[in-house]
Amino acid sequence: MTRVVALPGDGIGPEIMPAALEVLGAMVSVDVEEHLFGGASIDAYGTALTDEVLAGAAKADAVLLAAVGGPKWDTTDAAKPRPEQGLLGLRKGLGLFANLRPVRALPALHSASPLREERIAGTDLLVVRELTGGIYFGAKTRTATSASDLCAYSTEEVERIARVAFAAARTRVTSVDKANVLETSRLWREVVTRVQAEEFPAVELEHVLVDNAAMQLVSRPSRFDVILTENMFGDILSDEAAMITGSIGMLPSASLGAGGPGVFEPVHGSAPDITGQGIANPLAMFLSVGLLLRHGLHLEAEARAVESAVDRALAGGLRTHDLGGDATTAQATAAVLAQL
Ligand code: NAD
Ligand code: IPM
Ligand code: MN
Repeated sequence: MTRVVALPGDGIGPEIMPAALEVLGAMVSVDVEEHLFGGASIDAYGTALTDEVLAGAAKADAVLLAAVGGPKWDTTDAAKPRPEQGLLGLRKGLGLFANLRPVRALPALHSASPLREERIAGTDLLVVRELTGGIYFGAKTRTATSASDLCAYSTEEVERIARVAFAAARTRVTSVDKANVLETSRLWREVVTRVQAEEFPAVELEHVLVDNAAMQLVSRPSRFDVILTENMFGDILSDEAAMITGSIGMLPSASLGAGGPGVFEPVHGSAPDITGQGIANPLAMFLSVGLLLRHGLHLEAEARAVESAVDRALAGGLRTHDLGGDATTAQATAAVLAQL
């Protein structure tokens, strides 16, 4: 039996996880093991990720995660546990260095995007974000009057994420860096250039500075195929790219490593401002189930079925509040299940 570890987490997480498990259960028969994670785990055990949850995740076929964090646990005191440490610990602990964030401008949602339809039409891009290195994981220091976060990358870390990006590309990889300022970006640019020349000569490669890339994501998003970038740039650019789809509530992600279980989760957070109202958009979560089926369980037809059910529900007029409508989480779930 296929084993899936489900981590609802905090905020809207527990509101969208049951709906996602329904969608998953409609496609494949799975054993689900649910655990507290993030802030909920801090409240119960004093830590965002227990050894037991990490071990359970490592033994699963895939991990489905909703979101962590919230004002209850927000603190600037480094000695206090934070929900986000659970997420970073899980990614690092499972070796999930490759984060895939597909961004499609669905015709049904063109009018929901704040960007003009003629700009976003045809956009179908993939952000390949390095997930276990860079400034997120470098040494941190803090005194009363100063602080620092080290940003470091090794050749090997850049090579392996570059290979993921080139393998996923249809035509072109746009490598995004800040090589005019950062030493890590200059190493990044050299290594990506070499990997392309030696291993992927048929894929076009361009280098774009991150500030320019942020601008082009809203001015000419449809020109992008694969965007390859480091951890923090990828975090920021993917939230920006979400607005091409109409809402951050639409963007799924897959975090993969060297063959073990992947983590599948929406790009958005725990949305404390709408928690408890039953109005969270569950579609990013459903599309993450799609990625779990595709990359985690290698069930391509089932993955497509989920994606197409989401597309058809939207084409049929489904709109949650973030997309300008008034469908509740339960109504959105029913609309997608009806299409399955
Ligand atoms: P957020 O993504 O939670 O919310 C940003 C805005 O988008 C809010 O207005 C929210 O209501 C809206 N939104 C997000 N998801 C939505 C959905 N599914 N349906 C409808 N609207 C949605 O970002 P934030 O407010 O900056 O962060 C809140 C908390 O979430 C923080 O503690 C942060 O660290 C955490 N966070 C967690 C993850 C994760 O678990 N992967 C990702 C991002 C942020
Ligand atoms: C994301 C989130 C996380 C990140 C936070 C919550 C640690 O923003 O998954 O995009 O920065 O990676
Ligand atoms: Mn983010």
